[in-house]
Amino acid sequence: MNIGIIGAGNMGAGLGRLWAKAGHQVVFSYSRDEEKLHKLATSAGVTAKAGTLQDAAAQDIILLAVWLPALEEVLQGVGSLDGKIVITCVSGLQPDFTGQTIGLATDLKTSVAETIQQLIPNAKVVEAFNSTFAEIIASESRQFGSDFPSIFYCGNDIEAKQIVANLIEDCGYEPVDAGNLLVARTLETLATAWVQFAVSSHLFPNLGLKALRR
Ligand SMILES: NC(=O)c1ccc[n+]([C@@H]2O[C@H](COP(=O)([O-])OP(=O)(O)OC[C@H]3O[C@@H](n4cnc5c(N)ncnc54)[C@H](OP(=O)(O)O)[C@@H]3O)[C@@H](O)[C@H]2O)c1
Repeated sequence: MNIGIIGAGNMGAGLGRLWAKAGHQVVFSYSRDEEKLHKLATSAGVTAKAGTLQDAAAQDIILLAVWLPALEEVLQGVGSLDGKIVITCVSGLQPDFTGQTIGLATDLKTSVAETIQQLIPNAKVVEAFNSTFAEIIASESRQFGSDFPSIFYCGNDIEAKQIVANLIEDCGYEPVDAGNLLVARTLETLATAWVQFAVSSHLFPNLGLKALRR
């Protein structure tokens, strides 16, 4: 697949590297440091390259991995995303981890993912990767004993969700379909609780969230 990464920080760099390793064509973008982008692309392998925001947005699948305050600027700068699959891992977590700036536990009872969908109504927005840590993505493997953590994802387009599920698997996680984009409200709240638990338990970042079945 062709994947554009917007935000080449901990999440964007880590996921982009894993997708490039799995053979996908990856364009890294949106860093304040051009040299960092080029080094990242070179280290990610032959199927990766650095590009502009517009280069990344021209790919079939786009990962949004920026901080919430940058979102509007990014979405205004990319041009049309009509028909694209847009994966968001953007969280509304407050910088001190005490809660959310947007979501069920605030006056803004919506979600980051739904807000993105409103800004780009003709894109197929899928929320994923919110309840894992960049340190786990960057580590050698996603394996915990004999288990692999789940990644809960949600979105309104069934085909887009199947593609994202495959991309989650390519990263070494178990994809779990959590429903339509409305579910992002609870998934983002779950992600906040997960971060708070990781910090208060002193287990951060060595935790994986798993949906067990029987
Ligand atoms: N880290 C996690 O474990 C984790 C887990 C789940 C969800 N998330 C969410 O994923 C998103 C990205 O997180 P991250 O940890 O990857 O963040 P990060 O490492 O800080 O990366 C943010 C990216 O945005 C770029 N950027 C460009 N202009 C910026 C500006 N004016 N201010 C700040 N950044 C700017 C940064 O560029 P530079 O290269 O110039 O720094 C960097 O490439 C956030 O919404 C976060 O809440 C993170």
